[in-house]
Parts: sequence; C-alpha cells; structure tokens
Amino acid sequence: MCGKIRYMEKVIISPSILSADFSNLKSEVEAVKNAGADWIHIDVMDGHFVPNITIGIPVVKSLRRATDLILDTHLMIENPEKYIESFAMAGSDVITFHYEACENADKVKEVISQIKNFGKRAGISIKPKTEAKEIFEYLPFVDLVLVMTVEPGFGGQEFMHECALKIPQIREHADNKLIIQVDGGINNITAKICKSLGAKSLVAGSFIYKNNDYKKAIESLL
Ligand code: DX5
Ligand code: ZN
Repeated sequence: MCGKIRYMEKVIISPSILSADFSNLKSEVEAVKNAGADWIHIDVMDGHFVPNITIGIPVVKSLRRATDLILDTHLMIENPEKYIESFAMAGSDVITFHYEACENADKVKEVISQIKNFGKRAGISIKPKTEAKEIFEYLPFVDLVLVMTVEPGFGGQEFMHECALKIPQIREHADNKLIIQVDGGINNITAKICKSLGAKSLVAGSFIYKNNDYKKAIESLL
C-alpha cells in the first residue's frame, strides 16, 4: 500500500429527528436521506433519566416502515433492560443505552448482551460528567460509544468542548472497528473538532433541521 495516501473513512451523519417537524416525520426523514444522511437518530426520553419526555416504541415501528436508513436509537431512559426487546422488535438497528442508567457492571453487561442477542449493534453512552475510563472495560463488547457533548434532555444546547477530549481517550483503548459518536451542539465548526479527535459518527439535530437547506447543512459536517 502506498504510505502517502491514507484512506479517510466518511463520517456517519445521523440527523436527530428531535428537531424535525413531528407532524411530517416521514417526509422529514426522506428529506434528510435525500440530503445525504446515513442514519436516523431517535432520541427516546422517559421523564426520569432526563427531565424531558419525547417518543418511544410505536414511533420507531412506524419509522421502520417509512425508511430503509439505519435507525440509531438513543435510549435516555431508566431501566433500559426492560425495553431492549421492544426496541429491537420495533426495528431499531443500533440501540444505545446510558451507562449511568445501570446500577452496576453486571447490569451494563446484561444490557449489552441483550442488544447483541437480538442481532443489533450495541452502543453505550456517557453523560458530560462521566469520565471515559469508567467504560473502558466494556469497549470490547460494544459497537459504538456515544459521547454526549451536552447534558442529555434537550436539543439546541451549546457544545461542551471539554467532553470532546474523551474521544481520543476512548479511541486509545478501543480497536478500529469501534464507532465513536458525538451528540449535542454539533455544527460545522464543532464537527471539525470532533472528527480531528477521532469521531466516526456525528449526531446533529437543530443544525440540520433548523437549516433551510438540509443538504448544505449535512455537507458542511463532512
Ligand atoms: C440530546 C439529544 C440529542 C439532540 C441533539 O439529549 O440526545 O440527540 O437532539 O440536538 P442538537 O444537535 O440540537 O444539540
Ligand atoms: Zn441523542
């Protein structure tokens, strides 16, 4: 292989439908697909793990019928182990749960194996105050780590730069196949920072859906 040319993998863009027009969800999903989106990010909030309540299993089921894009489900819920089967059956492809929603290491491992047993890709997410090292032991068992760069709960918040420093820390302890995803406050500027630190997937809600031109917005993240 020629040492001078390094193949750069394209970053996976996962628009968060949290900022989409919920009364036109199917067309909002089609529109970002046509604009170049790779995945669809679905933010599930239960009013307990986070203060907000959003959408759940029936919406995933409907989206499954509406699109062939990968459904990237971000569970911001307590007791994730009770709901993995439902989200898997509804058609999620990637299921990401929060490390902080599990009371101990056994629970974390149980949730990961549930997701894997349904043949889905497993993701583990950490909130801004959780240190990267807390999840190092789980890295060999997951497909994705979601680094939150805002406090989970709401779209449209400002990117927390210090959280992005966890990306290289995780990268260093994982093999190349692990996808490090970043969520919260992603725009054309913060996307560059995250990519340079080793992120392979970017979630963006308001930056895409509040832009009049979805294609232009997505292209500016690449
Ligand atoms: C926040 C959610 C995010 C949110 C991102 O709890 O997990 O996915 O939609 O929104 P923006 O891109 O607007 O920060
Ligand atoms: Zn999210």
